Amino acid sequence: MCGITGYIGNRPGVRTVIDMLRRLEYRGYDSAGVAVATHGGKNIEIVKAAGKLSVLEGELSDYWDKQGAAIGHTRWATHGGPTTPNAHPHYSSDGRIALIHNGIIENFQQLRAELQGEGYVFTSETDTETLVHLIEREYKRGEVMEQAIRDALARVTGAYSIVLVSAHEPDVLYAAKTASPLIVGLGENENFLASDIPAVLPYTRQVVVLEDGDFVRVTQASVTLTTLAGERAHRELFTVTWDEQTAEKGGFPHFMLKEIYEQPRAIADTLRGRITPEETVVLPELDGFTREQLAAFTRVQIVACGTAYHAGMVAKRFWEHLLRRPVEVSVASEFRYGDPLVGTDTLCLVVSQSGETADTLAALREARRHGAAIVSVVNVVGSSIARESDAVVYTQAGPEISVASTKAYVTQIVALNLLALHFAFVEGRQSADELTAYVRDLTALPDAVESVLGGALLVEELAERLASRTVFFYLGRGYDYAVSLEAALKLKEISYLHAEAYAAGEMKHGPLALVEPGVVVVCFSTEPRLFDKMLSNIKEVAARGGTVLAVVPENETRADASADEVLRIPVVRPEFSPVVSVVPLQLLAYLIARARGCEIDQPRNLAKSVTVE
Ligand code: G6P
Repeated sequence: MCGITGYIGNRPGVRTVIDMLRRLEYRGYDSAGVAVATHGGKNIEIVKAAGKLSVLEGELSDYWDKQGAAIGHTRWATHGGPTTPNAHPHYSSDGRIALIHNGIIENFQQLRAELQGEGYVFTSETDTETLVHLIEREYKRGEVMEQAIRDALARVTGAYSIVLVSAHEPDVLYAAKTASPLIVGLGENENFLASDIPAVLPYTRQVVVLEDGDFVRVTQASVTLTTLAGERAHRELFTVTWDEQTAEKGGFPHFMLKEIYEQPRAIADTLRGRITPEETVVLPELDGFTREQLAAFTRVQIVACGTAYHAGMVAKRFWEHLLRRPVEVSVASEFRYGDPLVGTDTLCLVVSQSGETADTLAALREARRHGAAIVSVVNVVGSSIARESDAVVYTQAGPEISVASTKAYVTQIVALNLLALHFAFVEGRQSADELTAYVRDLTALPDAVESVLGGALLVEELAERLASRTVFFYLGRGYDYAVSLEAALKLKEISYLHAEAYAAGEMKHGPLALVEPGVVVVCFSTEPRLFDKMLSNIKEVAARGGTVLAVVPENETRADASADEVLRIPVVRPEFSPVVSVVPLQLLAYLIARARGCEIDQPRNLAKSVTVE
């Protein structure tokens, strides 16, 4: 996610916003830039550069000690690769307005076409540039700056937080927010804006956390808060007592927990702009494929590693169910050294959070060598896998810092589901009503995950009861088996406990011999069609003294008598249940690891991005 900073006061503006950006560096970014009002505000100077802040700093020596309101940005690429032209700030065609933005403007293509029709020239591929031109147009139509910004924002759909500085009012910073975080830091005769609290902590601990729909006008001496509609608004002043490390994690003790809690937003962002008001799916990323080309793929091959492989396991079921084609899922390191059955009739789906995993990249190249078309699902824009694919559907999870993946997993499943639905709409095998029902159910997932997180207290109590156990099995059938694999991986990665997943029907073929008092067996049972079968497995485990933790839909009580512990999750369509049912088990893994005193964000022996074979 992008870092946003803004400063107005007597300190050197550029130096201050760069220092604030440094405090947001941990979130990851791929380019950076600043804008500052110079020469008494006559000019707005913009300097930006691809790469790290140090590259940008090398170009800032002329500005370092000068005063003037300034804004700064570190960009995590979404629309357009991590290049200097795509870096923020973006500026109006007369160079008098500079804008930084975090979020996604959904209707930017339509607005861009409209502005181009009026002669506006674009210098980047970003959605953000559209907004700055739109503001300039409103200003030139005779509006004062504040109204021009409001009118432009009224044309925009999507999620954003923005900060703007202009030569028209060089002593004012304007900011607005609809979804992405934004705060105002209040100082003595100086004020700050930032996407996150750590940026302002060396300067002030007095903070106003803006809410969706807020609009602020910030000068050196004042902060005026209104709604986007122009009504006065009031927000509480918050005195930050966290140390800087806690602040980086948004007040959470670990990035993993923060990222678990970010999942509803990450899923919503991954869906954003990809679902039409008519509840169909739109993926312009696939425009390069004709309808005939899509129909000609008779086979689908998914390649990935680790958690991404588990997302592929979930997707396999949905793709086969919806599209009636064989879908093979392979661990990338096996695929690349195998003798893969792929060819020009194969669509290869490459799934990777980082886009840099060495085995996954090699598998992509191997599939390409056999003539397969490559569509990837990646979180990091401009990464190697993204660059080498024919099309990329980005997950919009934002940077994931914890080695144990959480929000990347759920967004990978959502993106793969969107892709399957895109194919289904193109092929028309199902009725439009059937497909829109799927789409509607996908859009319900953020709320379902939110509601699981609302019940975290129950998981905490459960973790206390299970923290001293050392052997865990995870069982499930169908989609529940796929999610078992991921839930077991979470526990073993961060708690160093023995955790193993099995297709529930396989239990009797070996692992049941290991069940004895003390062994915990997590039984996912979310699919009504398979509930009775799972109930038999639950009873088999209970009869051998194992501790059964059943994960069931909230309207299901039949396992209560046999299970020792029951976790209830909101009722969602079985095809989408892994996105929801994994969440309490992520939490459980986290809480058990914490109780055991483990290093959670950076577990021993593991790396976030495995760029060696
Ligand atoms: C490492 C990480 C996992 C991740 C896997 C694949 O093992 O610790 O969390 O799932 O690599 O990474 P990728 O970036 O390709 O998704």
